[in-house]
Amino acid sequence: MSDEGKDSWPSFIQDAVNDKNHFSLIVESERKLCDLCDYLYFRDNVLYFHSNELGEMSFNFEEILRYHQRQNYALSKEPLAKALAIKGETKRIIWDATCGTGKDSLLIHHFGATLTSFERSPAVFLLLKDALRRFPVNFNLVYGDARLIGDSSSRPEVIYYDPMYPTKKKSALARKEMRIFKEMVGSDPDSLEFLEWAMTKATERVVVKRPLEADPIKANPTVSYTGKSTRYDMYKIF
Ligand SMILES: C[S@@+](CC[C@H](N)C(=O)[O-])C[C@H]1O[C@@H](n2cnc3c(N)ncnc32)[C@H](O)[C@@H]1O
Repeated sequence: MSDEGKDSWPSFIQDAVNDKNHFSLIVESERKLCDLCDYLYFRDNVLYFHSNELGEMSFNFEEILRYHQRQNYALSKEPLAKALAIKGETKRIIWDATCGTGKDSLLIHHFGATLTSFERSPAVFLLLKDALRRFPVNFNLVYGDARLIGDSSSRPEVIYYDPMYPTKKKSALARKEMRIFKEMVGSDPDSLEFLEWAMTKATERVVVKRPLEADPIKANPTVSYTGKSTRYDMYKIF
């Protein structure tokens, strides 16, 4: 591991450390950026999250977008595009309330939408900012709880919501990447409350991503769109 110091940090990390951001990181050494954990550091121009048990993680938007570009998606067949009602003519105004690794945001962006994505975990937000710095993509990334920020913003047509799902049993352990992510974020215990708020904020629909076997967060979605391992529960706003 090379030993890069403060001089090489991009300005958004300097700002987070100097409290010019929405939160402040306490730096224990020039390489280690976070006090709660052992885990944020900057190396070879990339910001990483490091889990002692599981290893490191960074986000690479270029790889993901190139993958989507090769897929030739038919919007009329893609469960996520159908759930969000993206049809390719006019660009829908969509909020991704739970940006996470940015994968779903990148897919929604690729399908075509005017997208704003929210992330409330400081560590995840910084990884996302770093991914956007290395590979700029045209969506608006906002730090903070979508509900708190959204309260004072104009209304989107669609809110997309993908909260953390409780850990699976040991026999069905998730992929290493997902386990590292879970270590970084924890859980989202406020999902029903959030969904009820989202249904008062979106003008047209709210879409919730769930594992196939999981119950809906709120009973009786208007329609559910099912993919290979995922279900999108859509709640239409009347
Ligand atoms: C399951 S992950 C989302 C995964 C994401 N769809 C992806 O493609 O990687 C949930 C993420 O949303 C964030 N989150 C949960 N509730 C939120 C809220 N109300 N506002 C902003 N971020 C939220 C969590 O911190 C976590 O990073």
